[in-house]
Amino acid sequence: MADDIATAPSSPAPDAAAAARRAESHYGLRRRTLDRMRSKTTDLDQSPMRIDPRIYTDPAYFERERQTLFRETPILAGLSMDVAEPGDMMLFDALGPSILITRDKEGKVNAFLNMCMHRAAKLVTECNRRTRMTCRFHGWTYDLQGKLIGQPGKEGFEGIERAELGLIRVPVAEWKGMIFVRATPGGAPIDVADHLGDFGDELAALQLEKAKPVAASRIECDANWKYAYDTYGESYHFASLHPTTIGALAFSNIMVYDPFDNGHCRLGFPREEFMDYADQDEADWPHTDYGGLYMLFPNVSINVNSMKGGGQFYGISRVFPGDQVNRSFSLLNTYQPAHSSHADEIDRWREMHDFIQHVVSSEDYSVSRDGQDNLQWAPEGFRTTLGRNEIALQHFHRRMASIMGASA
Ligand code: FES
Ligand SMILES: [Fe+2]
Repeated sequence: MADDIATAPSSPAPDAAAAARRAESHYGLRRRTLDRMRSKTTDLDQSPMRIDPRIYTDPAYFERERQTLFRETPILAGLSMDVAEPGDMMLFDALGPSILITRDKEGKVNAFLNMCMHRAAKLVTECNRRTRMTCRFHGWTYDLQGKLIGQPGKEGFEGIERAELGLIRVPVAEWKGMIFVRATPGGAPIDVADHLGDFGDELAALQLEKAKPVAASRIECDANWKYAYDTYGESYHFASLHPTTIGALAFSNIMVYDPFDNGHCRLGFPREEFMDYADQDEADWPHTDYGGLYMLFPNVSINVNSMKGGGQFYGISRVFPGDQVNRSFSLLNTYQPAHSSHADEIDRWREMHDFIQHVVSSEDYSVSRDGQDNLQWAPEGFRTTLGRNEIALQHFHRRMASIMGASA
């Protein structure tokens, strides 16, 4: 009897619980998306919104954004499996300073300025699994927790405490498979649960901690980072800008919008094949791994989508300010969720990655570049307009205005 009690699960295993939570959330999104498809309507904001183009063109405003949003708030640096094992490391240079992220022997994630404490050379220039890091300039060596453990010719440095020469830490936090950093050393620890608010529960169901990295690319764009990022948050342009790519897979101008705390949101876009079973009972719907687009304020979109032939795709796009107000770059990373692992079919994930990279760079970012070029010549008083149907963009820009102050 005691054995029975010990072995009987009192609650579902964590994987089963996450799978159930994910299915409930994703089926709910599909149900609401189908309702919108049947009625040919979309979620709408209260009224259209006018945008002062200087938020895309003003260099001083851009500098404030870089500081306030990208150096003083937590930013997604990667997923746990990017540094899966003790000794794994990665460089995250997108915020300005080169940041070195390691997983130490205890399995904990650390983040440092990638700067040798001798004369500030870049400590790590190539990432691979190892137990220590040696500077290529004069050979100072650090362990995975940033402690200085080797100093050739150490008599030359008498009088300086070795303990003072550990790498400079920047705040880092790993939570449910996501690694967040803040690029400025010091300050309070990162509280991811607080940063995500009620979005955390949705993201936890994705089990990002088990998502395996498949492919990564960087795309340059001659447009302000917000002009590039705006292209992710509406379906209004699908038919006109993407007639043979995304527009052939999903209906234009129909969207479901779920706001969450702190400017995060999730979008549902209607996929053509939903109509194939729109009239059937939900119990008879084919299983798909469609989950919508998770937008993590201020610069991340996680595309949780089903693939042809089955399986779920996690495509993470992060948009960052470039070196000038009219330049940005994006990091595209594709992951394979553990519940969709077909090791022999990994090429299908790579193909999806290449497809998205192609669409983003040759379609979305080409229009971003053109629009950005025009905005610098826009006459005084000109405003761009966001329609009621561009609801996610309206919320994004209102959130931005509340953080940055109303005007550029
Ligand atoms: S700068 Fe790194 S050892 Fe000299
Ligand atoms: Fe697009």
